[in-house]
Amino acid sequence: MVTAKRETGAGFASVRVWHSARHLTPFYPIISLILLCHKLQESMLSSASSFKNYRGILNWCVVMLVSLKQYGILVDPIQVVSLFLKDPYSWPAACLVIVSNVFILVALYTERRLAMGSISEKVGLLIYIFNLTIILCFPMVVVLKLPSITPVGGAFALGVYTILFLKLYSYKDVNRWCRERTQAKARSPSSSFASSAMQSHVSYPGNLSLRDMYYFVFAPTLCYELNFPRSESIRMGFLLRRLFEMTYFISNVLSVVFQWMVPVIRSSMKPLQEMDYSRMTERLLRLAVPNHLIWLIFFYWFFHSSMNFVAELLRFGDREFYHDWWNSETITYFWQNWNIPVHKWCLRHFYKPLLRRGAGKLLSQSAVFFFSAFFHEYLVSVPLRMFRLWAFMGMMAQLPLAWFVARFLRGNYGNAAVWLSLIIGQPIAVLMYVHDYYVTHCEDDPTIAEAL
Ligand SMILES: CC(C)(COP(=O)(O)OP(=O)(O)OC[C@H]1O[C@@H](n2cnc3c(N)ncnc32)[C@H](O)[C@@H]1OP(=O)(O)O)[C@@H](O)C(=O)NCCC(=O)NCCS
Repeated sequence: MVTAKRETGAGFASVRVWHSARHLTPFYPIISLILLCHKLQESMLSSASSFKNYRGILNWCVVMLVSLKQYGILVDPIQVVSLFLKDPYSWPAACLVIVSNVFILVALYTERRLAMGSISEKVGLLIYIFNLTIILCFPMVVVLKLPSITPVGGAFALGVYTILFLKLYSYKDVNRWCRERTQAKARSPSSSFASSAMQSHVSYPGNLSLRDMYYFVFAPTLCYELNFPRSESIRMGFLLRRLFEMTYFISNVLSVVFQWMVPVIRSSMKPLQEMDYSRMTERLLRLAVPNHLIWLIFFYWFFHSSMNFVAELLRFGDREFYHDWWNSETITYFWQNWNIPVHKWCLRHFYKPLLRRGAGKLLSQSAVFFFSAFFHEYLVSVPLRMFRLWAFMGMMAQLPLAWFVARFLRGNYGNAAVWLSLIIGQPIAVLMYVHDYYVTHCEDDPTIAEAL
């Protein structure tokens, strides 16, 4: 028996679809269902969605108003370009991104050879391990060794490679599942198992084309599927609104960084060096407000405006990039709902495979958070060229925190605890990194120290 979710006309309701699969191998329906993980739907904050529950936002307002009343809002002009480029004629991060095409082509070529049967599964796996390892190591070495790359440029390039790593991993898994399904089908030729959801436009190995690969590379998802749900047409009004939001919100983020965060960070260096705890706490609370604002604006900019923009351009139908994380009453709910592409990938390619292999739930959850913590640290430590474990520990701390909130707090208290962990937790990590960066790179260089 298999359970699946199916879309209904007006909204989306979970419908249990029961398949009688007695005549099939037990593995067959499971493989078929995990091949499909997207559905046609609008993003929650879109006017077309019928979502209206913003109760969690009220709690956020209370927490933020207390801080804003004390410190006020400061707005000043922007200085940006040097963050991204040291030399306007040298674009190392962009070059790194262009080189990433090599890894995409290696994955496609490997899949074609696997489909033809000219290499064995073992050899294919070895090539993938090599390719995926290089995807992580190559940009790391370049960012560490190339002085012309800025921390922001480095973080951007590593972000692109990390996304590529996750996408190609998914590509590998799904194509393998397809081969397994074909073999399972061959073993039970009398099988009549089919559902409307499985009648694909493209079937394996017809998907192994450059066009299909690059559609997946640019699509706003980390989980590969042979036939993504597609919207009917590109809505120009929708596209232009998202484009306007993208430009407007990115300028907001930059102005808050330069005119609000940088002065607070600058004034935090002395108390941090002198370990003056009372002033450190005061600076931390002052940093919490702009940091949190940036995080919120970034959320909307990235998960709503930018992803919907790309999705609209590509007519990618599944717009569930986030869910109502603002109403989270538990930390677990927050991680399930704030970054759906990563959560979906973690579930499909890491968490569930571990569970299926017999690992316990706690062990599997810890493994996912460890994996995520590794990437958080990778994306921060490498561009800053210093190895600290603040981001890693911040991610790993989510497990005990999740247990504590679930055990002792309920309803609005749980929701306020989630908001507080976001508002206070992140600036602690930011201050730690900035302090360490200052001590490692700037103390001996008066020009950088002055700029900071
Ligand atoms: C670890 C993590 C994947 C756990 O997710 P979760 O939703 O809390 O996990 P659950 O135990 O509730 O189970 C999820 C799924 O596994 C299934 N499952 C649970 N136990 C199972 C078992 N023993 N065997 C098979 N399936 C099982 C559930 O039925 C559920 O399936 P569904 O998605 O089809 O409904 C999630 O917390 C996560 O994504 N964490 C990392 C997030 C992250 O790092 N994000 C980065 C953002 S920057």
